[in-house]
Amino acid sequence: MRRVLVVDDEENLRVVLRTLLRRHGYEVETAPTGDEALTLVDSFGPDVVLTDVRMPKMGGLDLLATLKAKGNEATVIVMSAYGNMDLAIEAMKAGAYDYVQKPFKPDEVVLALRKAEERESLRRENRVLRDEIRKEHRFEDILAKSAKMQDIFRTIAKIAEYKTTVLVTGESGAGKELVARAIHRRSKRTGPFVAVNCGAIPENLLESELFGHKKGAFTDAVQDRRGLFEEANGGSLFLDEIGELPLALQVKLLRVLEDEKIRRLGETRDLQVDVRIIAATHRDLSNETKAGRFREDLFYRLNVLLIHCPALRDRREDIPLLIEHFLARNNARLGTSIRGLDTEARRLLYEYAWPGNVRELENTIERAMVLTEGDMITAADLPERVREARDPVQMQLASGELSVKKTMRIIEEILIRRALQKTKGNRTRAAEILEISHRALLYKIKDYQITDL
Ligand SMILES: Nc1ncnc2c1ncn2[C@@H]1O[C@H](COP(=O)(O)OP(=O)(O)OP(=O)(O)O)[C@@H](O)[C@H]1O
Ligand SMILES: [Mg+2]
Repeated sequence: MRRVLVVDDEENLRVVLRTLLRRHGYEVETAPTGDEALTLVDSFGPDVVLTDVRMPKMGGLDLLATLKAKGNEATVIVMSAYGNMDLAIEAMKAGAYDYVQKPFKPDEVVLALRKAEERESLRRENRVLRDEIRKEHRFEDILAKSAKMQDIFRTIAKIAEYKTTVLVTGESGAGKELVARAIHRRSKRTGPFVAVNCGAIPENLLESELFGHKKGAFTDAVQDRRGLFEEANGGSLFLDEIGELPLALQVKLLRVLEDEKIRRLGETRDLQVDVRIIAATHRDLSNETKAGRFREDLFYRLNVLLIHCPALRDRREDIPLLIEHFLARNNARLGTSIRGLDTEARRLLYEYAWPGNVRELENTIERAMVLTEGDMITAADLPERVREARDPVQMQLASGELSVKKTMRIIEEILIRRALQKTKGNRTRAAEILEISHRALLYKIKDYQITDL
């Protein structure tokens, strides 16, 4: 922050400023016109451009606009005579950081430069901080700050490079596929990520889909075809909804997992493949096993490493982050410029039970962004089920959860948030309303990671 470019058509002023600023330890270059200033900007690389607003030909405003258009990040301070204050104000609106009024005392210029330096270092710090937060709360395409999800990030990082089979569980829309993709990306496997939904393909086609077939193996097999195991060779095969895999295929899958050999339908020879298997299900496979719908041996073979994606209502602290993310992404995608959600809408999104988890939140935000008439999403832009879900206690009870501990936590967190919202963050008053001690409140705020209201 030591390089200053002085631009002024008055030679006298250039000399005075050069001497003054050099004495204060700045590196100084001067230019008599905007054009010359622009050439110097490239070679000199100033941190601050101190420019007169009114000059023949290119004035300070044009210089400022050109710098901005070039993406130059130098801080611009304009100098303006008393009669030209409107120009100085215009310059500030166009992105100048400050102005000094001519004639000025030496101190005033130095002070303006110091202020600009401070701002610049603050800005740099904020940028670093923001990047860090973003990095910390993001793992590949997964965004989350809850402790539960941060655990998953660490697990993925640890296990990605091994070829161990992973079983990913969790409710619909909770992020199972994102986790599977993150595992693949973090592994050093060079082959592709191939996904197949075991529940979406008719049983009689699934086998040839997975293992491939030889021409003539069955009526429709008009030519040889590679299966998905072969396609995923060297990479990962994502067996989504593995709980829907028919029993007959479960036997075959178990065999592949054991010796990594597959055989195309109608073929007599085996093929060696190198595939990392990631399976996912929204079902409780151990229940399925007890009910005889899922082979126990396959369950144990798949369940070597289990990653459970928690339901969104069990990690509500991720909701604000996800909202910001979907807002920004959809603004870019839809060309909208929605600024955010008002307090009431935020509260509803926070308290709703999200049976469809992150996918439902994603769709709800997109829908609201299309429907809203202003640049803020309000409660009226939210679907009825979200708006009417006003009673979190009822919702929690309706979710079928029987744990007193879990239910109490959810209710407690909601009450604390409401109290903090009501008191605009005043913790002493919030503790009074909640009828708990100030200390208990501080502890709980930390426990529930309540940072944004
Ligand atoms: N933590 C997250 N950060 C960002 N986006 C997420 C996150 N979790 C889920 N999503 C998004 O939500 C949607 C659903 O995620 P995904 O497909 O991974 O869920 P799933 O568990 O596989 O659901 P299903 O069982 O219905 O297939 C996707 O669009 C995904 O990008
Ligand atoms: Mg999925």
